[in-house]
Amino acid sequence: MTDLVRVTKLGKSFTLHNQGGVCLPVLGGVSFNIASGECLVLHGPSGAGKSTLLRLLYGNYKCSEGRIEIFHQTRWVDIATADPREVLEVRRHTLSYVSQFLRVIPRVSALDIVKEPLVVGGMANNLAATRAADMLARLNIPERLWSLAPATFSGGEQQRVNIARSFISITPVMLLDEPTASLDAENREVVISLIEEARKAGSALIGIFHDELVRERAATRRIDIQSFTIAEAA
Ligand SMILES: Nc1ncnc2c1ncn2[C@@H]1O[C@H](COP(=O)(O)OP(=O)(O)OP(=O)(O)O)[C@@H](O)[C@H]1O
Ligand SMILES: [Mg+2]
Repeated sequence: MTDLVRVTKLGKSFTLHNQGGVCLPVLGGVSFNIASGECLVLHGPSGAGKSTLLRLLYGNYKCSEGRIEIFHQTRWVDIATADPREVLEVRRHTLSYVSQFLRVIPRVSALDIVKEPLVVGGMANNLAATRAADMLARLNIPERLWSLAPATFSGGEQQRVNIARSFISITPVMLLDEPTASLDAENREVVISLIEEARKAGSALIGIFHDELVRERAATRRIDIQSFTIAEAA
């Protein structure tokens, strides 16, 4: 299998400037690769640094040390040292981040939110709308909601619109931070299938899942983040 992600000796400490410059070490010596077709699941207790690791991989947090290489089109890009323009370029084609929260845009309908990545990718409007409708139906969003803006939707409905938007155009590398947190069993199954389809299409996924059942079903490999957590002095 071809590697799409290479993490080498990654470390992260936070400096709390508004609290006397206290330095909070979180992760150290993080090294792993993820290949095309894999779903690597991170597990470990709350506060161990799981979300921090995904944010580092997405380029939202700066690394304190180490390398995060993502295979982008024809070359490796080190997210830890890439300039912001390059990070955006990698995100546009290669790297996506799926959180449990939908970024709600006022007055934009659920259908348009889900359709947008396809339209931006050059798909004809009608075809994109049909695909978006299929995806919303698959995630059990009632048709009467499709033309409404999701601001007033329930937590689980917003989360499903977010998943629909994220999986309608899969990227080679996908970071998932508890995308199933407020879903019922039926919709969790849909997400498990979407992950499997992305893997079969060749994506490399890394995910955090609250639910042990989802972890078991989605994972092709697991990492215990605690092995990289810098423990606080007792
Ligand atoms: N922006 C930040 N500034 C300072 N400290 C942070 C920041 N983000 C995270 N931390 C700290 O890093 C540690 C790890 O947090 P993180 O959110 O990665 O944990 P987690 O494993 O995702 O936990 P959970 O399972 O509760 O989501 C925590 O102690 C947290 O306080
Ligand atoms: Mg977290």
